[in-house]
Amino acid sequence: MEETRKKILSGIQPTNTPTLGNYLGALSNWVKLQEDYDCTYCIADLHSITVRQEPAQLRKQVYESYALLIAMGVDPQRSVAFVQSHNCQHAELSWVLSCFTQFGELSRMTQFKDKSAKHPENINAGLFTYPVLMAADILLYQADLVPVGIDQKQHLELARNVAIRFNNIYGDVFVVPDAYIPKTTAKIASLQDPTKKMSKSDENPNASISVLDDRDTIIRKFKRAVTDSDSRVVYAPGKDGINNLMSIYGAVTGRTYEETEKEFDGKGYGEFKLAVGEAVADKLAPIQEEYARLSADKKYIEQCMREGAEKAYKSSRRTLQKVYKKVGFAVI
Ligand code: TRP
Repeated sequence: MEETRKKILSGIQPTNTPTLGNYLGALSNWVKLQEDYDCTYCIADLHSITVRQEPAQLRKQVYESYALLIAMGVDPQRSVAFVQSHNCQHAELSWVLSCFTQFGELSRMTQFKDKSAKHPENINAGLFTYPVLMAADILLYQADLVPVGIDQKQHLELARNVAIRFNNIYGDVFVVPDAYIPKTTAKIASLQDPTKKMSKSDENPNASISVLDDRDTIIRKFKRAVTDSDSRVVYAPGKDGINNLMSIYGAVTGRTYEETEKEFDGKGYGEFKLAVGEAVADKLAPIQEEYARLSADKKYIEQCMREGAEKAYKSSRRTLQKVYKKVGFAVI
């Protein structure tokens, strides 16, 4: 007998091409989770416009992100992969939940504080209520578990609090979601400053690898990766640069640190950096090929988007109806 599987929901903003760090730390995990959970994955385009976007560019990025998810191995048949704006219920639930979220708790969100400091000319209401929309994304699907990075943990905590508050007033309407923290997450650092997270928005293009970078670019960036003045490939505290490269090498080849140390015993950093670059390029090559194939077939992508949107709508319909009834709307 098949047990009912737990539900996973996660989202990613389409504003940047994912980095190797996003892939190894999060997206490759989304693919694996499909084996054990019912997964719903959302391209969070509504979230993206809290920061000003160039419309044509955003639209392109939505297609790119969606195709990339599939190219990486998210199966649109087995899971629900959809674009947030294609299911109108996110915005609808978000409004209701915003009436159950306090100004004070949103004011404490560190991402709001950071982003408003970064864009003092555009501190819009959407930037402020962004965590409510994220709570709606999660609660609409009655998700049990939400894989999130450390930067989103505070938002998930808010979603839990809002769910608990709502349930206390109206009965058990929402599943209270837990964060899903995988046992082995690869935390990939910048190639230029290994004390910082690898980020696509880094000004230095050599600091991050995009999952769509070509082979030569990948190898060149790894050759330039910042390391210390030692030359032995050994994992040791404080050697952030080489540790980061060893983590990356381990994540893409499956080798342990020990195995890597043995493999490069007596060899220098130069040789190791080249090997890491080649291993990363090999790992990304099939994804890039599949991505190229998919992005040449816009009809197919749109077909998947439509089916994903329909599945998403259906699976969240009941929750929204229930919420509307509970708060006293005349549901007809
Ligand atoms: N806010 C998340 C981010 O910027 C993306 C996101 C949107 C999300 N909706 C979500 C993540 C729901 C988890 C669950 O990374």
